Amino acid sequence: MPGLAIDAPSGLAEEATLAALLRCCVREVAGPRGLVWPAPPYLLLRVAGVLLRARTHGGAALRFDGPPERLRAGAWQPLSTDELVGLVEAELQGHNGEFAGQVAASRDAVAAILAARAGAVPPADPWLASEQALVYGHPFHPSPKARGGDGWLRYAPEAHAEFPVRLLGVREDVLAEEGDVAALDAMGRAPAGYRVLPAHPWQLDLLRPVLGGELLDLGPGPVVVPTSSVRTVYAPAAEVCLKFSLDVRITNCVRKNAWYELAGAVELTGRLTPVFEKVAAEHPATRWLPEPGHRSAALGTRLHEGLGVIVRQSPWAVCDPGVTPVLAAALALDAPAHDPLAWWRAYVTVVALPVLELYFTHGVVLEPHLQNVLVGLDASGTPAQAVFRDLEGTKLVTGRHDLGGLHPEVARALSYDAERGWARVVYCLLVNHLTEIAATVAGEDDGLLRELWRIARDLLARQAAGLGWPLPLSDLLAGAPLPAKANLGVRWARAADRAAGYVPIANPLA
Ligand SMILES: Nc1ncnc2c1ncn2[C@@H]1O[C@H](COP(=O)(O)OP(=O)(O)OP(=O)(O)O)[C@@H](O)[C@H]1O
Ligand SMILES: [Mg+2]
Repeated sequence: MPGLAIDAPSGLAEEATLAALLRCCVREVAGPRGLVWPAPPYLLLRVAGVLLRARTHGGAALRFDGPPERLRAGAWQPLSTDELVGLVEAELQGHNGEFAGQVAASRDAVAAILAARAGAVPPADPWLASEQALVYGHPFHPSPKARGGDGWLRYAPEAHAEFPVRLLGVREDVLAEEGDVAALDAMGRAPAGYRVLPAHPWQLDLLRPVLGGELLDLGPGPVVVPTSSVRTVYAPAAEVCLKFSLDVRITNCVRKNAWYELAGAVELTGRLTPVFEKVAAEHPATRWLPEPGHRSAALGTRLHEGLGVIVRQSPWAVCDPGVTPVLAAALALDAPAHDPLAWWRAYVTVVALPVLELYFTHGVVLEPHLQNVLVGLDASGTPAQAVFRDLEGTKLVTGRHDLGGLHPEVARALSYDAERGWARVVYCLLVNHLTEIAATVAGEDDGLLRELWRIARDLLARQAAGLGWPLPLSDLLAGAPLPAKANLGVRWARAADRAAGYVPIANPLA
């Protein structure tokens, strides 16, 4: 068939976009209305009065086998993304003129990524290759790959981009920085009276700061490699990660480092250092990525935040020799489990137990979703360590830490009340993360999937006993519904990510 090869990316992009939107519909639209029915081998649902069906496996991860269909005039016919967008628009209250465009933009982006990957070489570094493996992105988001504006492909991790940062010189009297930023000074030379500030070239195009005087253009700097979050890059020569601001909406947020987040990262690094030491004494596989410093230019909030860069340690620096860090989200696509039960037991042990220890014993809320956790695999491919990252999403439980002395905005941004914190931990760890890994390990074997959850339950129950059966954990093990983040809902409402609600879903530990 002529044109088949050329159309392959758009066909795959349509399939993936439809699947992600349909998952959101099951979870957030039809599910809460009681309009989802298992009818093996199909799952049936009704959206805006129309009956839909798809073959699925993988439990709550909703992996689809074959094309989803809709009932029309008594016959099952293939469903398209555009049709499903129309049904969502008809079902949901209110009006959102952007929604269809965001879904379509995401589908176009996936097609462009697939086409670009066909001619690109993945990084030799296996960790970086895993960071760049997320072609389809978040599986429960209506527009996982939408990425505003033009020119994004040049900076896209999934297209195996790499590019030099732009070096700016910040005059010392307007330098804004805290903590250890020696890695930045090592990236280039600034004239006397100035300090080096690396900038993301895409962000410079968006911000267009006035150059000269307080802020100099020092030309291209070291080549960097974008990681899965797009805006955080790895600088191989300096062996550090740089988390930039990027004034682009990626999933639910415009990716700007707010001034209180710049300060919060350094503050949390100091506070978490002794905490993680204690956790690692109990759970020796635990690692994390400190964010020891940030730098920017004190030239008004727009530039202070827009040019603010956070220094983050490299995962290679924290893993033991012989252990290879791999992004959990990449393992959710392809888990190398020769002995699935042993592999999963090791996985849950290194990933889940320290998260619970941090919450219950230390009042620390991690955000351990698939993109914020790296799993260190040993030479046999078995999980040996877990590396937690992203201090923007890391919070301290209100009332359990003395935040006196901090700027009130900084303190507010790094605090979460216990209940919200627990919902976030359970969503990220169980719904976003372990559900996907389990589905991939089990494949189409539903019996194996049940066995995996029995193992997880035993491991969590043993830890619950060690922690004195804290109530939220007891409820979880007793089968309380899990909170699933409402990504479609927050996009439909055009609300801030922090306003996102949760919908209850069945608990596989029950
Ligand atoms: N399963 C997933 N859950 C959450 N985010 C995902 C998932 N898969 C892919 N992603 C992508 O990962 C990113 C997660 O955003 P998050 O706010 O954690 O990162 P960040 O703060 O921008 O950067 P970093 O993780 O480097 O600190 C988004 O770009 C999102 O689209
Ligand atoms: Mg992250």
